[in-house]
Amino acid sequence: MSRIVVFDSGVGGLSVYQEIVKKCPNHDYVFVSDNLAFPYGTKSESELTERVLSVAHVIEQQYKPDLLVVACNTASTVVLSSLRSRFTFPIVGVVPAIKPAAKLSKTKTIGLLATPGTVSRGYTQELINKFAADCHVIKVGSSKLVEIAERKLYGFSVDINQIEKELTLLLKTKNLDVLVLACTHFPLLNKEIDCIFKEKNNVVFLIDSGQAIANRVAELCLDNDEGSSNKKIAAFTKEKTSNTLKLYLNKLGFNSIELLGESRGELYL
Ligand code: DGL
Repeated sequence: MSRIVVFDSGVGGLSVYQEIVKKCPNHDYVFVSDNLAFPYGTKSESELTERVLSVAHVIEQQYKPDLLVVACNTASTVVLSSLRSRFTFPIVGVVPAIKPAAKLSKTKTIGLLATPGTVSRGYTQELINKFAADCHVIKVGSSKLVEIAERKLYGFSVDINQIEKELTLLLKTKNLDVLVLACTHFPLLNKEIDCIFKEKNNVVFLIDSGQAIANRVAELCLDNDEGSSNKKIAAFTKEKTSNTLKLYLNKLGFNSIELLGESRGELYL
């Protein structure tokens, strides 16, 4: 049994968590949402690096992970190497599924829907150059969609027109056949996004990195998957949950909701 910590700015990481736990049920899990510093998608690279390193430091102290999953494209495209040089436990990051999308696309026209941070990163452009050089890639950065997905899990209603507005450029793009959901919040809006494309008679395959991450975690924990104590903790950096979110977390099997760094207080200063 390993203790796996899955970390994101908000609740988007729960989309990745669900794939991991399906594939690797015999481990203990801590899901950490840095909701105090949410959203990450509008932060500069240096702000983000500083923040993620300090949260990871508290995670190490508080939960002693055997494995850390950075279930956030925005953070992963910036801080993975700094994290790996700082900590000894293995760290798995989430990067945009550009490679499988390019392979899957018949029209060689793919969409990349992410945070403003992720679409503008050099790391993302390198992935495009390396794996999708033969494709026309339409990049759309949206903080609004992140906010809508986050609020959905907190129990707020979803305005489908607002989502459609954010997808305008992608809906207008002729021959788009694959859309990369390159923010872990977006699979939480999978049904809505799919419905909007279908209504416009656009056949678009939505792809995200959740299953690939679950496969990677399974590989890393292969020799250690017996005897889970079934402990599942959800931890937040700011006390701001809602009944809807609590119910959602309970349904996912979380039996404890905690504050990260509560005893040390350092994240709250
Ligand atoms: N869920 C995150 C991602 O995958 C970050 C969203 C945000 O905080 O802006 O990019």
